[in-house]
Amino acid sequence: MNLTTDYLGLKLRNPLVVGASPFADDVSAASKLQDAGVAAIVMRSLFEEQIDAEQRALTYHLETPAESYAEATSFFPSYDEYQLAPELYLRQLEQLKGQLKIPVIASLNGCRPGGWTDYAVKLEGAGADAIELNLYQLVTNPDVSGDEAEADMLETVRSVTTSVRIPVAVKISAFHSAPAKFALLLQEAGACGLVLFNRLYQPDIDIEKLEVEPKLKLSEPSELLLRLRWLAIISPHLRVSLAATGGVHSSEDLVKAILAGAHSVQLVSVLLQHGPRMATKLLEGLQQWMSDHGYESIEEFRGAMNHSRCPDPAAFERANYQRMLQSWQITS
Ligand SMILES: Cc1cc2nc3c(=O)[nH]c(=O)nc-3n(C[C@H](O)[C@H](O)[C@H](O)COP(=O)(O)O)c2cc1C
Repeated sequence: MNLTTDYLGLKLRNPLVVGASPFADDVSAASKLQDAGVAAIVMRSLFEEQIDAEQRALTYHLETPAESYAEATSFFPSYDEYQLAPELYLRQLEQLKGQLKIPVIASLNGCRPGGWTDYAVKLEGAGADAIELNLYQLVTNPDVSGDEAEADMLETVRSVTTSVRIPVAVKISAFHSAPAKFALLLQEAGACGLVLFNRLYQPDIDIEKLEVEPKLKLSEPSELLLRLRWLAIISPHLRVSLAATGGVHSSEDLVKAILAGAHSVQLVSVLLQHGPRMATKLLEGLQQWMSDHGYESIEEFRGAMNHSRCPDPAAFERANYQRMLQSWQITS
């Protein structure tokens, strides 16, 4: 049985990728995941704000990055709170490349064009097989339109894709007015792949202390549905690779993401909850499903449930929405 898949031009032994997370902070944790069968690993993100702080400090030779960063803004973590400072990030990447056989994908996280994107060149130099550029942003300024925010994102993507030779995947949010068009624009800007979707961090309110409670909740399988829908909608229109991230917890979820059009499927929460052996279980479940359904390779069923055969996807979506609402009746 052939589980190989092409993701960002990298030939992966199967579609399982460890998503951006703390797993790659530790070479031995990453090695265990490799032994459990995963085909690639994404490092945690290096943030625009971290890189900016370091570059400012280097330019003025005045302060340590820690001092300069503390002054930048009090909202952000202090320089020392980040798990990997930029220089350490490069060393960690080199170590991972020295120890692992699977591809290592570095992650940059930011959305405004600027000097920080030059760091992509350093990541390439340190041996990254690809870069995942996470455009995480919440546009809270009412004077900024969606078009303006997206223009900044596209310029950021172009500045990274034009400065490196390694492939660049872009991790986006689902909350664009027209995600399908934005996906095409990202492809034009040089992205080799799209990672769907960022989970937007959603703080709760503590009604006793009247404080905002920042909480990191691991994902639920229901979150996969939004990813499946957009993979199915955009995959017929794109030539770039697609990765699903968010809500993959079982081999059934893995199969669904591939049926919707994903070339690779990223895992984080399920591995944090159950450890590396879960990757082996998911792969066994995938193989079992393929054998039960007579598939010899991933390519035979990838995208089989996307919208390529649907003559009017928008009407199809609205029709299903209406049918679903009509299915509820109150019986007395
Ligand atoms: C502890 C933790 C750390 C994470 N760090 C990053 C990060 O640095 N950069 C990033 O793009 N995503 C990060 N993520 C998001 C994951 O890569 C992934 O997109 C998200 O958890 C959804 O996938 P899942 O349902 O498999 O958990 C992190 C998630 C967790 C749980």
